Amino acid sequence: MLNSRYLLVFFLFTAPLSVFAAQETPHIAEYCGGCHQAIEQGWKESVHSQALESRLFQDALQMASADFGARARRVCLGCHAPTVAVTGDWSLKLKLSWEGVTCDYCHSIRSVVMDGPNPKALVDYNNVKEGPWKDVTSPVHGTAYSPVHTSPLLCATCHEYRNSLGFPVLTTYSEWKKGPYAAEGKGCQACHMYQVEGKVVVPQVKETAGHEINLHEMPGSHSLTQLNKAIRGQLFVTHQGGEVHVEVDVTNQAAGHMVPTGSPLRKLILDVRVEPMGGKSLEQTRAFTRVVADRDGKILNREDLVFLRAAKVVSDTRLAPLQTKKEFFTFKVPQGTGSTVAADFYYSYSPMATTKAQQEVEFLSLTRFVQ
Ligand code: HEC
Ligand code: HEC
Ligand code: HEC
Ligand code: HEC
Ligand code: HEC
Repeated sequence: MLNSRYLLVFFLFTAPLSVFAAQETPHIAEYCGGCHQAIEQGWKESVHSQALESRLFQDALQMASADFGARARRVCLGCHAPTVAVTGDWSLKLKLSWEGVTCDYCHSIRSVVMDGPNPKALVDYNNVKEGPWKDVTSPVHGTAYSPVHTSPLLCATCHEYRNSLGFPVLTTYSEWKKGPYAAEGKGCQACHMYQVEGKVVVPQVKETAGHEINLHEMPGSHSLTQLNKAIRGQLFVTHQGGEVHVEVDVTNQAAGHMVPTGSPLRKLILDVRVEPMGGKSLEQTRAFTRVVADRDGKILNREDLVFLRAAKVVSDTRLAPLQTKKEFFTFKVPQGTGSTVAADFYYSYSPMATTKAQQEVEFLSLTRFVQ
């Protein structure tokens, strides 16, 4: 059976050179994926491709529109459906808008300016696609080497954000900049877009020499592998004088920024449970998170409010890059009773989530037996 992708490619090859003429509206991902198949596959798995579709986002967008009107809605769509700024599709009718952070948006970024409160991308949808390579050619678009595509500045345009009250809501870029990885020149791309086996274009279009592409899946907190890489836990237990003493050392060993980073509603939760033999199980939890409040000091628990109304930090117990925190817990257990002690780590995405999977994931569990 003929694959429609190849038909598309065939059509592109036989199309006249006029396709090089100025392009004004962005292309959909499927068009790019006709040639960049492996990259499209990775991107489809990413949360970037779901940035508008996400149930959590849709719910929050509705609340933002209802409570704060069309201006607020525009703020949200600026990052979650960035092509809308040029297509004007504010009522979200186009397939392109539903692609969220899509190919043609990122590859039409020409530079990043840092002159306002927020880093800003200068985007021009013409037929030259910018990327990390010098001297490559494509049959349907111009190519240009772009220093900004290999730099964290590109990511900063959405992962660093001060709201209209001047409050820094998203600080992933500045956390990275202050930390040890910026100093050693290890940017966002090194950890989130590392090289993987794959062909940059389908061989029907061009036999390319390289066999590696930059992963477009952007694995972050929705990837168990990344979470397990990021957090190391060590569990120490003693039983003395009728008390079980538990120490858990938690290290941010591989995230280039705070854990958690991004939205203040994200939480890393440590849950310690002691199960004495024949007795009732005991439990204590601790959260690593940044709690934010509005101008009147009211703690904010909704994503739309966090973005629009956050004005101060109430507490911040997150783990900086390479930081270790020692957490201590005490439980009353009669001497002579053996206990199983478990320390479970959860990553919690949002209190607004309606399903368990949207809400949190357990990624690490440690256990000990103490006499
Ligand atoms: C007809 C096939 C085809 C289509 C469709 C296509 N490309 Fe390409 N693209 C190529 C080829 C071929 C190369 C060069 C690859 C090489 O030589 O290794 C390339 C290179 C690139 C590069 C690298 C540029 C650089 O200098 O680093 C980017 C970025 C890119 N394409 C993005 C896109 C985007 C975004 C779309 C959709 C708007 C798209 N391409 C559509 C064939 C295509
Ligand atoms: C969030 C922004 C973003 C999105 C969305 C995105 N890219 Fe990229 N892309 C990049 C960056 C950044 C690089 C360079 C990474 C590096 O060199 O470290 C890149 C690299 C590339 C390259 C050069 C080959 C490679 O793997 O390095 C091609 C081709 C490409 N992207 C095509 C696409 C296509 C097609 C899509 C959609 C299916 C897409 N990109 C979506 C940011 C993006
Ligand atoms: C146009 C805005 C935009 C740009 C540019 C952008 N991102 Fe994102 N990114 C988002 C949004 C929006 C989300 C959250 C989507 C959601 O969860 O609904 C996100 C989520 C992520 C996540 C979380 C993944 C997870 O598992 O939850 C990672 C990692 C990430 N981006 C990395 C990057 C990197 C690295 C770059 C630069 C190469 C980049 N982003 C550029 C908007 C952007
Ligand atoms: C040294 C590796 C490393 C570097 C550098 C790095 N990250 Fe991460 N990042 C991780 C790991 C590991 C995770 C998973 C743990 C977590 O979610 O905190 C992660 C998680 C994330 C998340 C998901 C947060 C959430 O709760 O949804 C985002 C967004 C993100 N990174 C963006 C970035 C951006 C933007 C940069 C550059 C300014 C960057 N990262 C630099 C390793 C790195
Ligand atoms: C400057 C860019 C930017 C703006 C503006 C923005 N967001 Fe986001 N949003 C992000 C990024 C980046 C993430 C992912 C952060 C992380 O992984 O922790 C995110 C995550 C979210 C999430 C969690 C989604 C999920 O799937 O877990 C919700 C909900 C959300 N934003 C709602 C909103 C609403 C509502 C607005 C407008 C009031 C808004 N955002 C404005 C960039 C932005």
